[in-house]
Amino acid sequence: MSEFLTLDRIELHNKTVLLRADLNVPMKDGVVTDDARLTRLIPTLKELAQAKAKIVILSHFGRPEGQRNAKYSLRPVATELEKIWGQPVAFADDCIGATAKAAVDALPNGQILVLENTRFYAGEEANDPAFAAQLAALGDVYVNDAFSAAHRAHASTEALAKLLPHAAGRLMQAELEALEKALSKPERPVAALVGGSKISTKLDLLENLVAKVDVLVLGGGMANTFLAAQGVAVGKSLHEADMLDTARAITARAAAKGCRIVLPTDAVVATALQANIATKTVAITAVPADSMILDIGPQSARDIGDVLRMCKTVVWNGPLGAFEFPPFDQATVSIAQVVASLTRSRKILSVAGGGDTVAALTLAKVTESFSYVSTAGGAFLEWMEGKTLPGVAALS
Ligand code: 3PG
Repeated sequence: MSEFLTLDRIELHNKTVLLRADLNVPMKDGVVTDDARLTRLIPTLKELAQAKAKIVILSHFGRPEGQRNAKYSLRPVATELEKIWGQPVAFADDCIGATAKAAVDALPNGQILVLENTRFYAGEEANDPAFAAQLAALGDVYVNDAFSAAHRAHASTEALAKLLPHAAGRLMQAELEALEKALSKPERPVAALVGGSKISTKLDLLENLVAKVDVLVLGGGMANTFLAAQGVAVGKSLHEADMLDTARAITARAAAKGCRIVLPTDAVVATALQANIATKTVAITAVPADSMILDIGPQSARDIGDVLRMCKTVVWNGPLGAFEFPPFDQATVSIAQVVASLTRSRKILSVAGGGDTVAALTLAKVTESFSYVSTAGGAFLEWMEGKTLPGVAALS
């Protein structure tokens, strides 16, 4: 991992701090439906407020593609942050220029100002140095706490770091430290649980993991492709017929690297993907031609539990079954509970990330028991793929 500066290494007292946060929170009908990305900013906000810094938050929200669009305004998110913070949070309806400058000037030290969506300007996603310079003109110091946006080389995540003294915020720091413990310098044996529907979207991830982990447990639709590659008849199950050679190549690479791949030996099947439809539990070699695998079976879940009990580190991305449709959430929930219990008894370090994964852990009510649950989706995946994240590299 690249070395990065933290808040301890930078002068914050009475400074105007441009804090790149990820306020890109899920929202329905103008209401924030998951505030984790806001609550996880609190340690950084407290530290900056204690240093009597002016806290000027920069963030994107949605994908307005360089155009001002009221639908993507950060105003409601600033209101939500104010509720969580418990003190006034100011808002400016521009992130550069005279409006932003006046709002920064009017902000009392130790207080928070949220600037409007950086993606209202094309210069943000273009990583335009001139746009970054307009942002930089508003502050003295740059702190990046948006690990979940660090896979984007955008002006507020990358170019801006080149223009001001900079450091990682506490959330960025926590994410990077947890991820380093899980994959860069893990206690072994280390297991990766990877689910989700397709190999094709997680090729780089699988290639990287087989070289790094001792056991790779596969579930979800992507396991079906590996099973089909071994000649198992998967009936109507989701699988990628054009990826069988790729699955065989990954299996061979795993063998060469000493990584054991664990595939399900039984499955819960049904004739359609519907909640509460009639199901059957069958051996993996006996999937009926008219049925689809929608969850890994109870025997496989028990076997995976046994594998995890032998490990010291577990990293998880992707649900193991069609967990949004009960009862196909059962294996994911039961394995999540095993990981949580092993973590609570300090037998393993567990790190999970990715939107669906976090939703599955929330369903299993175990989020608090994991060693670390990342706030990131795409950035977590890219990090697991072994890629350098531009927003992190810029802080080194
Ligand atoms: C996310 O929600 O994963 C980040 O905020 C990045 O958003 P983006 O995929 O629109 O760049």
